[in-house]
Amino acid sequence: MTQDSFKDGAQRRENPDPHEKNRPVPRLIIAIVSLLLIWSVSYILLSHPSDDASLGDSRTMATLTGKPGAKPGGAVDGAQIYAAQCIACHQATGAGLPGVFPPLAGSEWVLAKDTVTPSIVLHGITGKLTVKGTAYNGAMPSFKDKLNDAEIAAVLSYVRANFGNSADKISADTVKTVRDGSKDRTQPWNGDDELAKLKE
Ligand code: HEC
Repeated sequence: MTQDSFKDGAQRRENPDPHEKNRPVPRLIIAIVSLLLIWSVSYILLSHPSDDASLGDSRTMATLTGKPGAKPGGAVDGAQIYAAQCIACHQATGAGLPGVFPPLAGSEWVLAKDTVTPSIVLHGITGKLTVKGTAYNGAMPSFKDKLNDAEIAAVLSYVRANFGNSADKISADTVKTVRDGSKDRTQPWNGDDELAKLKE
């Protein structure tokens, strides 16, 4: 055995040196990644992210937070406030519930001078109240912390112009005057006793 053939034999018994194989990223993955890239870049370009936000759909913060009666542009919708705040008791027709909730339709309180209904809605009522000849003895909640002047004006203008009623609108200024004039009041009006004086 020559020196050479010994070397050959030893070499043949050895495992070849390990080497890193060439493993390319599968084409499918490349295709998916490139599609995602194309989609994301075109999405950004097509969605005009740097456009002026005021050119959007004109919804106000009030609309988005679901504050009742908010309309785009900041106007208040009396019908919506009525539906959100009053309908449960005074009903969709404004007829109330016999014996429990008095009617707003044709009510002498609703049609009285323009400071009466703001007083009622701001502070609420307890005790005996006579409406269209029937005595009620329920509790009308106060809305002074729930609705602002414009909202109370809108809902009362709506009530005074619907359910067969026809009386002048109530302005937010009137509500403000009544609110300021009665700001020390913490209790609801005591039915006929106190409200009759307001009507005069
Ligand atoms: C939880 C029920 C309830 C809700 C809500 C309610 N009311 Fe009343 N309201 C009453 C009751 C009860 C009376 C009568 C109070 C009494 O008997 O002392 C009354 C009385 C009134 C009166 C005077 C009497 C009449 O019938 O004209 C007006 C005006 C009125 N409510 C308007 C409103 C408006 C506007 C809203 C919504 C902003 C409203 N109410 C929400 C229960 C409610």
